Amino acid sequence: MEFAKRLDNVTGSAIRAIFALIGQPGMISFAGGNPAPESFPSEDIAQIAADLLRKNGSTILQYGGTPGIGSLKNTVLEMAAQRGIRASLDEVIITSGATQGIGLAAKVLCNPDDVILAESPTFLGALQTFYAYEAKVVGVDMDEDGMVVDALEEKIIRHRPKFVYTIPTFQNPSGRTMPMKRRQKLLEVCKRHGVLVLEDDPYCDLRYSGDPVPPIKSLDDNGHVIYLLSFSKIISPGLRVGAAIADKRIIEKYNICKQGEDLHTANLSQEIVNAYMHSGKIEGHIQSICADYRIKRDAMLDKLAEFPKGVRYTRPDGGLFIWVTLPESMNALTLFKQCVDAGVAYVPGTHFYPEGGHENTLRLNFSMASLEQIDKGMDILKSVIEKNLQ
Ligand SMILES: Cc1ncc(COP(=O)(O)O)c(C=O)c1O
Repeated sequence: MEFAKRLDNVTGSAIRAIFALIGQPGMISFAGGNPAPESFPSEDIAQIAADLLRKNGSTILQYGGTPGIGSLKNTVLEMAAQRGIRASLDEVIITSGATQGIGLAAKVLCNPDDVILAESPTFLGALQTFYAYEAKVVGVDMDEDGMVVDALEEKIIRHRPKFVYTIPTFQNPSGRTMPMKRRQKLLEVCKRHGVLVLEDDPYCDLRYSGDPVPPIKSLDDNGHVIYLLSFSKIISPGLRVGAAIADKRIIEKYNICKQGEDLHTANLSQEIVNAYMHSGKIEGHIQSICADYRIKRDAMLDKLAEFPKGVRYTRPDGGLFIWVTLPESMNALTLFKQCVDAGVAYVPGTHFYPEGGHENTLRLNFSMASLEQIDKGMDILKSVIEKNLQ
């Protein structure tokens, strides 16, 4: 069968193979990036959905408008305002998750072979999406404070990118957060060179320590930043609801392209999210998720503190991931097979790098496993590493 050339660079096979393995019975998985299933407010949502359909079924079950339901757009603006972002209704579109907002950015802005700059390492889903639009992704080095802005400027000059894709808060996969000063500098550099910023911010409410850092978008006074938010990590990823906030000319193009993708995000999902956000329960719900994830993060960090000396790791203030760097001589791909045989899985870090390499890195997720599994799984990981160090 002959597929479109645009899929030539979209493989995903290594990751699919990993996820096939971690589905094995008894496997302790630190590989996924899903919220803990017990965190879903299923009962509340069942009640909300039933009420909505009884009261307003004929509208909800009908086709809707592409930009999204007005009440949810207003809710998004309220959330954005709490994060320091000022925007108007014509600068918002409801998307089917942040995933759609990432894809629409590439669809609206990129021609084949255009360059997108991204943190190195970056979110694998975004990499696959950008490749499907035949864009070239060039990685920008990170340090403990996120994307290095001097390296960014050098790459902007060299590659003339269409936009810079960044996850400045609790980055996937590294868990790192960019401090305010660097956010200012990043925006200043992008503005000076006329390059847009795509800011992906799905984890911002999952903070377990430290003080909140306002999004880059809150510093944007002339439509330079496309901001993506998501309800996946605070309510449910299965509902598929997110939003993009950007200059209204960009939102208009998002609208045109979204129309041909899914016409609109499911009305029922949008209404459920909006009702839950106004149910008086969301604050308590986020607090309870954060309390649970904080305990799990700390449990994983406590275990990592017992690992051999040459093993380095990030200490994220939030999000779902810890990034581990093994001694240079070790290979997380080789280790992965031994770990899976011993009953524990992670994602080898090389897959998150646009240019590959960095085989001594790996990503650990702490939201899905139970505390007992974290305890046992981290002991297995440690012993496999120790064996390979000898
Ligand atoms: C950085 C990043 N962006 C976007 C997404 C996808 O979010 P959504 O469920 O809103 O499409 C994820 C999910 O893992 C993510 O880590």
